[in-house]
Amino acid sequence: MENYSEIDTYAKDWIMTAGKRLKSSFEENLNIETKANANDLVTNMDKEIEQFFLDNITETFPTHRILGEEGMGKRITDLKGVVWIIDPIDGTMNFVHQQRNFAISIGIYEDGVGKIGLIYDVVQNELYHAIKGKGAYLNNMKLTNLKKVSISEMILSINATWLMENKRVDHQILTPIIKDVRGTRSYGSAAIEMAFVASGRIDAYMTMRLAPWDFAAGSILIEEVGGEITTMSGNPLDYLNGSSLFVSKPGLHQAISETYFQNGWPTVKY
Ligand code: IPD
Ligand code: CA
Ligand code: CA
Ligand code: CA
Repeated sequence: MENYSEIDTYAKDWIMTAGKRLKSSFEENLNIETKANANDLVTNMDKEIEQFFLDNITETFPTHRILGEEGMGKRITDLKGVVWIIDPIDGTMNFVHQQRNFAISIGIYEDGVGKIGLIYDVVQNELYHAIKGKGAYLNNMKLTNLKKVSISEMILSINATWLMENKRVDHQILTPIIKDVRGTRSYGSAAIEMAFVASGRIDAYMTMRLAPWDFAAGSILIEEVGGEITTMSGNPLDYLNGSSLFVSKPGLHQAISETYFQNGWPTVKY
């Protein structure tokens, strides 16, 4: 039997230490490289922070495994046992260009079921924290259950990429929604955008392509406050391979599907 209260104490301690290290790195020269394309950035700090978690987790919990964006752990092909799904810096582009609006995201899963979610918005010093069945917190304040909101009063987080012609989704399915909502936002960190839905700062977030480490922590938060979470096609998320994502306050999934997806939910090429 895993002791989740002990795991939680360690995870919180490590995430705060990692946050301090990220802040101190603002004074240093970053080593910036690109990955899949010229806009897909990775820095020495993304790698250092992931390695920091890997070292601590393997020393303290030798049976646990790690699925991290920078691939520091062993290759993971299933979610059996306890798996820490880690994004050492979610919003690397913001980290490099803005020194804000990035987060450390950790979802702790047992046999594929989310147990603990932690999202630390380092510069705001805001720690979002959820334990399955025990609620969600922003720092030490309990987050209240999300309330319903109408489409005309909602703030939707979405990246402009998906509203132009693109290879993943028929953008024309999305434009009527944008016309009807109160406003749109884009923060450049999926974890922060999910934490903002969970804390009521925005009402929904849609995106066509995320990896497990982008949403592993956020989805536990969303579930603990009664939010709704599916892919953009209305299916369950894939915590091993990633998927599209639609998170919202209660009722918005139904309202949006009835109003805009009468011919079926969007098909997304992941
Ligand atoms: C990215 C951010 C961004 C989202 C991208 C992610 P990264 O994560 O969450 O908001 O639009 O799809 O890859 O690479 O900065 O960890
Ligand atoms: Ca990245
Ligand atoms: Ca990410
Ligand atoms: Ca990252």
